[in-house]
Amino acid sequence: MALLKSTLFLFLVTITSSYLAHASDPDITSDFIFPANSNAVDGTFFTYTGMRGIFDTDPTTFKVTKASLAEFPALNGQSTSFAVLQYPAGGLNPPHTHPRSSELLFVVEGSLEVGLVDTTNKFYNQTLQLGDMFIFPKGLVHYQYNANPTDPATAISAFGSANAGAVSVPLSVFSTGIDDDILAKAFKTDVATIQKIKAGIAPPK
Ligand SMILES: *[C@@H]1O[C@H](CO)[C@@H](O)[C@H](O)[C@H]1NC(C)=O
Repeated sequence: MALLKSTLFLFLVTITSSYLAHASDPDITSDFIFPANSNAVDGTFFTYTGMRGIFDTDPTTFKVTKASLAEFPALNGQSTSFAVLQYPAGGLNPPHTHPRSSELLFVVEGSLEVGLVDTTNKFYNQTLQLGDMFIFPKGLVHYQYNANPTDPATAISAFGSANAGAVSVPLSVFSTGIDDDILAKAFKTDVATIQKIKAGIAPPK
């Protein structure tokens, strides 16, 4: 009986851990997923043109343009998406995480300082040159910064999810209604300091 129980336990641990190891967007049982109320598509369904023109002007603040499930419905069930990241001189993509995917960032203009923090709070950073790639592992806090005082930078990021999601550290902590007293305790500071930080952070869109 004890042997049976431990065998069963081992079996459950094995299937659970192999399930977790493969956790990603769910597999679909068709080639692709038709849009709602439709069972006929043509080539335009598989095409995304929303990035046209985005390289024509240099944004004056950090800008993300996504091609994910919301913008490009044909990605439904395909476990992939893109984002184009544009940084003016001095532009910062503040610390954030993607709960459902790792991110493979590819620098296609200028250079970027990037950093990530793992679950043991170890910090890793690097300065990337044009043509370099960097992988941000799934769910870890990370950022990118264009330290160049005069030139813009651009990166293209690939994700292993159609809907990687983004959780901004400053926005999620300081602009969502968490009580000032809670934050003052958490950051071991006073309410006035918390309110000063909150005042500088725009509410989430
Ligand atoms: C990493 O960050 C440290 C500051 O914590 C900085 O001094 C160093 O230059 C950075 N390294 C790279 C390669 O960007």
